[in-house]
Amino acid sequence: MNREDAIAFDLNRIDKAFIDNPYPTLANLREHDPVHYNPDGSLYLTRYEDVRAVYQDRTMVSDKTAAFSEKFGEGPLYTHHTTSLIFNDPPYHTTVRKLLAHAFTPRKLAEMEPLIEQIVDSLLDDLEGAGEVDFVSAFAMRLPTEVISFMLGVPQEHRSKLRGFSLAILGALDPVVTQQRLDSGNNAVAEFGELLGELIDHRRANPAGAGQGEVLEALVFGEFDGRKLTREELIQNCIFLLNAGHETTTSLMANGVGMLLKAPDQYRLLREQPEFIEGAVEEILRYESPLQIGNRLTSEETEIGGKVIPEGTYIHTSIAAANRDPLVFDGPDKINFARKPNRHISFITGIHVCLGATLARYEGKIAFKKLIERFPDMQSAGVAERMPLARFRGYSSLPVRF
Ligand code: HEM
Repeated sequence: MNREDAIAFDLNRIDKAFIDNPYPTLANLREHDPVHYNPDGSLYLTRYEDVRAVYQDRTMVSDKTAAFSEKFGEGPLYTHHTTSLIFNDPPYHTTVRKLLAHAFTPRKLAEMEPLIEQIVDSLLDDLEGAGEVDFVSAFAMRLPTEVISFMLGVPQEHRSKLRGFSLAILGALDPVVTQQRLDSGNNAVAEFGELLGELIDHRRANPAGAGQGEVLEALVFGEFDGRKLTREELIQNCIFLLNAGHETTTSLMANGVGMLLKAPDQYRLLREQPEFIEGAVEEILRYESPLQIGNRLTSEETEIGGKVIPEGTYIHTSIAAANRDPLVFDGPDKINFARKPNRHISFITGIHVCLGATLARYEGKIAFKKLIERFPDMQSAGVAERMPLARFRGYSSLPVRF
């Protein structure tokens, strides 16, 4: 790869090789064309400082109404993505975020720790003596699904549907999507919305949730600046939370085990010195960021990396490339659980900084600690499959021998 390849790169025409291993292409872009224009006029940023600056710049907007209208047309996907807080700006974004914040205080999250421990123990009990299993379906997706479902009070019988829904809905956010993917995304929002609508109506009529569903309670009954969320806003933000709460965390778990299998020296380090677990979680997040690409839109003319960028420019931020910028990380392509400092931006920064970062870190810390104690010698049991998505990085399947 060279400068010509960097200049000719088109994020709208990426292939399977990029999805399997985007890092060489990203390194080439970062070196030769870090403020890169795609042929459609959008920007693709790969330098840490530029990506970080975009997230901290209050003139950058998250609203994607125009882009989503073109991509999705009218329908459930459009309604969903334009109503969830992540693709909105203040004041609506502030309202939803403030309501949610009540359920994500450090005290409330600390109270979740015993539940997380209990879920991890029971999932690991199931793995004992199981031989070869797919780690994604047996563990990685189940822990975060159980946790976020508990927080929203989703009944047990619906929980197994969540991953299918979320892959269909989030998959439609990839830069390039087929009609089939759009159809399954629309169907997923419609079906998921119906299910959550019933849950919300039931909760409104029965405010006491028996300890479950604290997030739902904060959203349904909370009020900010004299405003409550409408039924549609509640449904779409609950769908978003369920997706945000488990999809990326599933990838954190699976990417982490994938890395342990690839780097036996680091696996040994954790076995011998479990005090490195927290550092390991940060390094897994940096090295294989579950959300690889973010977006913002310029609301006024601005300057990025020495280039003048017009108002109305659509920006793709490569979180994956920023996290491997050699100006910020020594030996960025090396897995190093003892890395310090580790200023990765997998949860971004600025007003949309991930609300669930502390929860995801708890889940990661508890899961890896117990997993390594119980299974000090996991082995690969076959070829792992990456999810066929550019925006989200994780595994569809990861065969492991326990
Ligand atoms: C490893 C796991 C996770 C990663 C890597 C991750 C990453 C991110 C990122 C990058 C954003 C910002 C997107 C943007 O504005 O462009 C975000 C936002 C968000 N995340 Fe997470 N997330 C994770 C887990 C969670 C969990 C467990 C929850 C909830 C239970 C959660 C809830 C949210 C919410 C509500 C937002 C929207 C914040 C806003 O727009 O103000 N996330 N996440």
